Amino acid sequence: MPKKLDLTENLENYIIDHSESLTDVQKEIIQYNINLGDQQRLQISVSQAQFLQTLIKISNTKKILEIGSFTGFSALSMALALPSDGVLISLDKSSEFSTKAQSFYKKAKEKKIKQIIKPAIESLNELKDSSKRFDLIFIDADKENYLNYYEICLELINKEGIIVIDNVLWHGEVIDDTKNDKFTKIIRKFNTHIKKDSRVVKNIIPIGDGLTICIKK
Ligand SMILES: C[S@@+](CC[C@H](N)C(=O)[O-])C[C@H]1O[C@@H](n2cnc3c(N)ncnc32)[C@H](O)[C@@H]1O
Repeated sequence: MPKKLDLTENLENYIIDHSESLTDVQKEIIQYNINLGDQQRLQISVSQAQFLQTLIKISNTKKILEIGSFTGFSALSMALALPSDGVLISLDKSSEFSTKAQSFYKKAKEKKIKQIIKPAIESLNELKDSSKRFDLIFIDADKENYLNYYEICLELINKEGIIVIDNVLWHGEVIDDTKNDKFTKIIRKFNTHIKKDSRVVKNIIPIGDGLTICIKK
């Protein structure tokens, strides 16, 4: 077996630089988020955005649902990878973040993104009652509701559709026995639930804060 790669910050930057380039508006969102200070950590990493774009393209995804849009970086990145007749519904309860995200979509002339601004559980239940189904769902909102989101998403995803969940490695704390705070426990419980779930094929990818990819059987 080859020596395990030590993914340093420099190597991560090299990977980003040698993968799909960011558009000007994607770069603008990143800069806007940096200026927000602490809240910048809410945004997915650039390598995660590049990976999601690849996933969308190789799966011929046309319909995406996102739970947790923040200022729009992940939604815009995913929408850019969709074909022109694709659609992305993005859920967030914050009208402040959603208004900002909307301004970036407009600047990027990106019309495939539809926003729903209210608690995600309400939106998901409404989508469940409608006939809308999705090829790919990205879960990246409040961790307390991850299990609820996942269970509803299994009803909203097409057969062989993909559910992607962010933050599943929780800064590496999932394997640290000394960390037993509320959020670490929630993520561990969530990961165990997915592991035992025979309805999906699953794989954890160690980019950003850890992404789980579930494919519905
Ligand atoms: C981690 S951020 C999403 C980051 C985004 N995917 C990105 O890469 O830029 C989580 C988002 O979930 C939203 N959120 C938190 N709780 C929510 C809820 N109960 N319903 C809907 N949105 C919620 C927050 O307002 C926040 O914008």
